[in-house]
Amino acid sequence: MGAGNKFVPASDIGDLSRKVVLVTGGNAGLGKQTIAYLAAHNPSRIYLAARTESKAKNAIADLKKLSPDAEIEYLPLDLTSFASVKSAAETFKSKEKCLDILVNNAGVMATPYSTTQEGYENQFGTNHMGHFLLTKLLLPTLLSTASEPDGDVRIVNLTSMGHYMAPKGGILWDQKAAEGVSTWRRYGSAKLANILFTKQLAERYPQITSVSIHPGVIITDLYASVQLNFFLRIGVWLYGLLTPFLPGHFKDTKGGALNQTWAATVPKAQLKNGQFYMPVGTESKGSGYAQDEGLAKKLWEWSEGELEKHGY
Ligand SMILES: NC(=O)c1ccc[n+]([C@@H]2O[C@H](COP(=O)([O-])OP(=O)(O)OC[C@H]3O[C@@H](n4cnc5c(N)ncnc54)[C@H](OP(=O)(O)O)[C@@H]3O)[C@@H](O)[C@H]2O)c1
Repeated sequence: MGAGNKFVPASDIGDLSRKVVLVTGGNAGLGKQTIAYLAAHNPSRIYLAARTESKAKNAIADLKKLSPDAEIEYLPLDLTSFASVKSAAETFKSKEKCLDILVNNAGVMATPYSTTQEGYENQFGTNHMGHFLLTKLLLPTLLSTASEPDGDVRIVNLTSMGHYMAPKGGILWDQKAAEGVSTWRRYGSAKLANILFTKQLAERYPQITSVSIHPGVIITDLYASVQLNFFLRIGVWLYGLLTPFLPGHFKDTKGGALNQTWAATVPKAQLKNGQFYMPVGTESKGSGYAQDEGLAKKLWEWSEGELEKHGY
């Protein structure tokens, strides 16, 4: 049984007053529900970072119906563009001195091969590189918040059991060659990167609590690309009927957002820095590659090198 198995957001989340929160991909799915859970506990402000302004504004309108007094602000962010990530970080830093909770939630899954503006395979570029840059640019704020008396800073990175599908070697270093690799292996590589990145964050910045979580399986827009195929669409529909009965599956985002909300709000002493958690609050080692400290260090250094190539 995991520590958070009985996690009930309404009663278990403490007072979040004075906390500043940023959730990527907050306009839909698990990100939106995470904001709904947090907004009910009086945070100072929540930044809903998203690439689609209309969806973000609609989401904020929905969220305000649930928590009318909550301060929820749209932060434009497209993780497929380093310029957009930089602009989001600068906008955030121009408005806030502190950042207490960063939920790197946005993601894409099983998309056809395409590349981000800087030439990374779309899933790796969105899920890993965009979040790596965003986190690096926000680190000064995160570190200064952590150094405050009672500073308790969290970085929650969304990964997936899909990381087990990573190809031989784990990470696809050659982003162009990734075109010849199946989309699920590419997703696996990107989600493995989320776990390895988290481990390095914990090692390099122990004053911040960084964890990675698998949310469970929840049919959301994430499955849109899977549903382009008629037979897979039927499969996903049938699967959706079964989800309430399968372990580790949730029928909707209310269940699906529990693990990340738990990680963002549970008393710090209940978390292990760098740990990967299954829903809800259950420690997991993850795949062999996920436990490879050398691979984690290599990924960090490689990612930094990539940022440098682009002037970041
Ligand atoms: N649902 C599951 O079963 C499951 C299982 C394991 C892991 N996860 C992980 O959970 C996270 C959330 O997934 P979800 O199920 O909530 O999916 P979702 O409903 O599709 O939401 C994904 C969010 O990411 C945003 N996003 C995608 N590309 C972006 C970009 N380039 N820049 C900024 N935002 C971007 C989307 O924005 P738009 O609305 O503009 O596209 C959306 O807000 C993902 O990291 C996913 O890998 C989910």
